[in-house]
Order: sequence, then structure tokens, then C-alpha cells
Amino acid sequence: MLLCLLLGLGLAGGMEPPETAEVCGRCHRAIHDAWRSSAHAQAMESRLFQDALEMAETDLGPGARRTCLACHAPVAVRIGDLSLRRKVSWEGVTCDYCHSIQDVSMDGANPVAKVQFSLVKSGPLKDSNSNGHATAYSEVFTSSLICASCHEYKNALGFPVLSTYSEWKKSRAASEGKQCQSCHMYQVAGNVVDPRIQRSRGAQVNLHQMPGGHSIEQLNKTIGATLSMAHEGGQLRVTVEVANRAAGHSVPTGSALRQLILDVTADSYDGQHFRGERVYRRVVADQQGMELKSEHLAMVKPAKVISDTRLAADEKRTEVFTFPVPAGVQTQVKATFWYYYSPTAPESQQRVTFLTIQRLVK
Ligand code: HEC
Ligand code: HEC
Ligand code: HEC
Ligand code: HEC
Ligand code: HEC
Repeated sequence: MLLCLLLGLGLAGGMEPPETAEVCGRCHRAIHDAWRSSAHAQAMESRLFQDALEMAETDLGPGARRTCLACHAPVAVRIGDLSLRRKVSWEGVTCDYCHSIQDVSMDGANPVAKVQFSLVKSGPLKDSNSNGHATAYSEVFTSSLICASCHEYKNALGFPVLSTYSEWKKSRAASEGKQCQSCHMYQVAGNVVDPRIQRSRGAQVNLHQMPGGHSIEQLNKTIGATLSMAHEGGQLRVTVEVANRAAGHSVPTGSALRQLILDVTADSYDGQHFRGERVYRRVVADQQGMELKSEHLAMVKPAKVISDTRLAADEKRTEVFTFPVPAGVQTQVKATFWYYYSPTAPESQQRVTFLTIQRLVK
């Protein structure tokens, strides 16, 4: 009876793996809508990526395309559609890619996902009962390994370009058994399958939006900061205690172009303005020691680290600034945290301020 209903609605018909997210979304509406607004869904489509891809092909040769698409349009590489003729190839990190992963091997230099496109969809549910398609339980979906296949990467020079997985491995979160999913795919209200298709199971789904550095909420959770001031030898001493309290890896993690910036200002009532700054980031260079400042080069060319001031998982750091403000002069002190994404992004999307603390001192 249900099958007739499904066919009647034209939902199950014509599934030919790998299928587009749109087809999955006919039944998995809530998951589809969350995924649609994720960075994963934009991984191929975004202007930022396409510009970077073009530069990669210009600067590094046509072979670069395959390297970049392996993570940004993984279906395209797996089905040999590098010229992106099929819609599903444009969908970036899409449903049928992840749900066709059978296992992830950590034996080689880089993690490798074993992927098999078929009508059987693999997932985390042990007791899944689907009339839409066959399903298979796979443990890899509840483990960070599935994410490692794109969030851990050494380039051809053996340099760890992306190391989110290994940073996580050393974190307290990992030792407590928290996986990437615990913080990026927590459970939210929603139906796994549209109730018109199949009755709901407790109305909880794993969030597929994957909020990360582009989510103000995640950023606010991440940084804990306190501000204190003291006068010392005719100077104003400002102390900011900074903690990475919620990311199970370094902040920033991933791309070497991401930066966390702490900006401290002191404005005295007699009209003086002072400013100090700390930048948390990794600066990488090529074999000749030239700093790499664009996304495509920073993915392929790094051979060494020039400096690494990122906040490791669980790290606390004390930052001290001294300004020439004597005691008795009323001063407004302000600490602001910025997150800087990428120099290639349009200016309005390059950075965001997410935390400001201010105090008045005499
Ligand atoms: C015709 C409706 C329909 C379509 C289309 C559909 N699904 Fe499903 N799917 C279901 C139903 C029903 C379940 C069972 C849900 C449950 O057990 O609560 C399910 C379960 C799943 C599961 C859970 C499997 C497990 O064992 O954890 C995954 C993963 C999944 N679908 C992925 C997909 C993907 C990817 C697509 C697109 C290629 C897709 N589905 C298209 C109806 C559909
Ligand atoms: C097939 C490769 C692939 C897999 C598998 C994958 N990711 Fe990603 N992920 C990407 C790419 C590529 C981007 C960057 C997309 C962009 O901004 O262009 C990204 C971006 C992200 C972001 C960034 C959000 C932000 O705000 O910048 C988060 C968080 C994330 N992924 C978490 C995960 C988690 C958790 C898993 C495992 C459940 C996972 N990813 C699995 C490729 C992947
Ligand atoms: C980056 C890989 C990735 C992508 C892309 C992805 N999923 Fe998932 N999906 C997962 C993981 C991992 C889980 C299990 C999370 C957990 O159990 O902690 C999951 C769980 C599920 C489930 C089981 C129910 C639940 O809420 O746990 C369904 C159904 C599902 N996904 C469907 C989809 C559909 C439909 C899409 C596209 C709109 C999609 N997924 C895109 C990785 C992915
Ligand atoms: C204990 C919670 C927690 C765990 C575990 C965790 N993350 Fe995160 N992650 C966060 C928070 C909070 C942020 C936002 C701060 C930031 O952007 O650095 C974030 C940001 C990110 C970003 C955005 C990059 C950036 O710096 O802007 C990516 C990508 C990411 N996580 C991937 C992963 C992957 C992959 C794993 C597993 C190997 C993982 N995360 C494990 C909490 C967590
Ligand atoms: C091993 C997987 C992998 C490969 C290979 C890869 N990327 Fe990425 N890329 C990612 C992930 C994951 C992110 C998310 C950023 C983070 O972790 O901070 C990302 C982020 C980006 C961003 C920033 C997007 C944003 O929204 O901020 C650009 C641009 C980019 N990559 C371009 C490229 C280009 C061009 C290539 C090829 C030269 C490439 N990538 C190769 C995984 C990969």
C-alpha cells in the first residue's frame, strides 16, 4: 500500500545512484533544508571556491582540478565527471556521497574513503525501516573518521595542510568520546522522513547544517574571555584571559588563511587613543620560504610553518597589553574578537566581530 503511495507521489521512482540531493529531499525534507544552508552544499557552487579553482588551474596546471574537486565536489571525481556535466556533481559535499561511504581507511598518508554508489543508503540507524530504499547500518557514521577523509590532508610534500582530525585526536573532547558529530551534527527537532511518507521516530534529526566558523553561535561558544586592568608604574596594564573552551580542535582550524583576532583599545577621557592586537593563526610558506597568502596555494604549496599562534583545543592564554595611561585618568578599555575568513572573499564577508567586552577604569 505504502509503495503504491510512494509511486503515486513519484517519490521513489527513478533513483539512479548517485542521486541528487533534491531527490533525497523529497522524503528527507528537514535534513535537506538544513544541508542546503551548509558550507558543504556550497563547497562547489560558491563564487569563492570557483575563483580559487580557476586560479589553481592557472597557477598549478590542469591537474589541480582533480585535487580540488576531490573534497569540494567528491561525486565528480568518483564518477569521472570532472567537467561537471551532471547536476549531482555541482552539489559539492552531497547526500549520496556521504551516505555511500562504506568505510574510511587511515593506513596511507591520507585518509581514504571507500565509496560505493548503490540503491543501498548507509547511515547511523541500526533499526532503520525504509520503504524508500534499502539501508545499511555503518559505524563510520557515528565516528570522526567519516569527517577525516576531507578534514585531514597532507599535500604531495607531506605537509599537513588540514589537520583538524589530528588536532581533535589530542583534545579532551576526543578522550571523553565526543566525535565531530557531537558538536557539528547534534540532535535537533525535525523528522528524519516527511511524516506523509512514513511515521516519525521521536521527531529528532542530526543537524546537517554543520555550523562551524561561519556560525556566530559556535564562535560565541568557543571563546571564553575575561578582561582585567591594573595601574603599574604610571602605565595601564590590561590583561585578557583567552580560552578555547568549546572547539575540539585548534581555533582557527583547517585553512591556513583563517584568523582569530583580538583587538584591544584604550580611550582615555583626556582624548588619547591606544590600541593593541593579537592574531591567532598559522602562517605557512612554500619550499623557498615564501609566505602563502591565497587559498589555492595554501592548499597545495605549503612546505613549512613560519609561525603558529592558534589556540589549541582546551588551551588558555594570558595576553598582556600596557598603555601609557597614568592612574586617575578615566579610560574606556575594550576587547573585541574578530574572525577573519579569507582574503579572496568579498570584503563584506571577510570578517565578523563576535565578542566585545568593555570596562571603565580610573
Ligand atoms: C521515497 C522516500 C525516500 C527517498 C527518496 C529517500 N529516502 Fe532515505 N529513507 C527513507 C525512509 C522511509 C527511511 C527510514 C527512516 C527511519 O528508519 O526512520 C530512510 C532512511 C535513510 C537513511 C538511514 C539509513 C540508516 O541505516 O541509518 C539514510 C542514510 C538515507 N535514508 C539516505 C537517503 C539518501 C542519501 C537519499 C537520496 C539519494 C534518500 N535517502 C532518499 C525514505 C526515502
Ligand atoms: C567529501 C569531503 C568532506 C567530508 C566527508 C566532510 N567535509 Fe566538512 N567540509 C568539506 C569542504 C570542502 C568544506 C569547505 C566548504 C567551503 O566553504 O567551500 C567543509 C566545511 C566544513 C565546515 C565548515 C563550516 C564553516 O563555517 O566554515 C564544518 C564545520 C565541517 N565541514 C564539518 C564536517 C564534519 C563534522 C564532517 C563529518 C561528519 C565533515 N565535515 C565531512 C568537505 C568535507
Ligand atoms: C558530510 C557528510 C554528510 C552529508 C553531506 C549528508 N549526511 Fe546524512 N548523515 C551523515 C552522518 C555522519 C550522519 C550520522 C550523524 C550521527 O549519528 O551523529 C547522518 C545521518 C543521516 C540520516 C539518519 C537520521 C539522522 O538524523 O541521523 C539520514 C536519513 C541522512 N543523514 C540523510 C541525509 C540526506 C538526505 C542528506 C542530503 C540532504 C545528507 N544526509 C547529507 C553525514 C552526511
Ligand atoms: C567539542 C566540540 C567540537 C568538536 C568535537 C569538533 N568541533 Fe569543529 N568546531 C567547534 C566549534 C565550537 C567551532 C567554531 C570555532 C572555530 O571556527 O574554530 C568549530 C569549527 C570547525 C570548523 C570551521 C573551521 C574554522 O576554524 O573556521 C571545521 C571545519 C570543523 N570545526 C571541523 C571539525 C571536525 C572535522 C571535527 C572532528 C575531527 C570537529 N570539528 C570536532 C566545535 C567542535
Ligand atoms: C583534502 C580536502 C581538500 C582539498 C584537496 C582541497 N580543499 Fe579546499 N577546503 C577543504 C576544507 C575542509 C575547507 C574548509 C575550511 C577549513 O577547514 O577551515 C576548505 C576551504 C576552502 C576554501 C575557503 C572556502 C570558504 O568558504 O572559506 C577555498 C577557497 C578552497 N578550499 C579552495 C580549494 C582549492 C582551490 C583547492 C585545490 C587547489 C582545494 N581547496 C583543495 C578541503 C579541501
